[in-house]
Amino acid sequence: MTDSERSSSPDFSPLAVGEDLTPLPEYKAAGTTAVDFSGLLREPIKLHEDLKTGCGGQLWPAGMVLAKHMLRYHREQLAEARILELGAGSGLVGLAVARGCTIRQPLYITDQVEMEPLMQHNIALNELQSKVKALVLNWGEALPQEILELRPNTILAADCVYFEPAFPLLLQTLRELTSLCPEATIFFCFKKRRRADMHFLAKARKTFNVTEIEDEDRPVFSRESLFLYTFRRK
Ligand SMILES: C[S@@+](CC[C@H](N)C(=O)[O-])C[C@H]1O[C@@H](n2cnc3c(N)ncnc32)[C@H](O)[C@@H]1O
Repeated sequence: MTDSERSSSPDFSPLAVGEDLTPLPEYKAAGTTAVDFSGLLREPIKLHEDLKTGCGGQLWPAGMVLAKHMLRYHREQLAEARILELGAGSGLVGLAVARGCTIRQPLYITDQVEMEPLMQHNIALNELQSKVKALVLNWGEALPQEILELRPNTILAADCVYFEPAFPLLLQTLRELTSLCPEATIFFCFKKRRRADMHFLAKARKTFNVTEIEDEDRPVFSRESLFLYTFRRK
């Protein structure tokens, strides 16, 4: 199997242009970037980006927005949280939270098996092994034992809406996670690229109370068709 066949989204190409609105991010060569989220992190996180195992191998705009939101508004509120990130890709959001927010127990960054080496690499690059664990979690499949035991009450998902056939799988996983912990808060940020992306939200509203949340950057990111919500189980 070639790398492109193993990509998480068979019709996805970082060079592709959405059917309407905005183009997807430009293809980037592999490399390491330091990110301080406009000064919100005193010590930047380093992220190796590499698209050879899938589109999650680069930083995505909703990941930047969600990471900044967590650093700006949840720095001290997550001390007792049980945190899980879905579709973590390079680990952008989870690593930022682990570096900048007070957390007392390790958080889990998860993605498909192809992304596991990059997640592990970036955890080690930032010496965050005691605070961040990488796990394979495929949407729509049985939850890993560690996650069943964790019963996460804080779920992070950035730029996980971009491939329509995966929408029901992601919703199934969100429903299963919130059955484990009905009081969980899902922080959900995505960029609207295609008309169908709004169908995801319509479906989510059947199970969750979907609330657009305050953020001082909203005037900027909403101009780029980025949306930031919390989902809570109805
Ligand atoms: C667009 S990337 C976003 C990466 C990261 N959250 C960010 O903001 O930079 C979407 C991620 O979702 C993951 N993904 C796609 N389908 C998935 C599935 N069925 N199960 C688990 N992860 C999936 C991809 O591998 C990819 O890393």
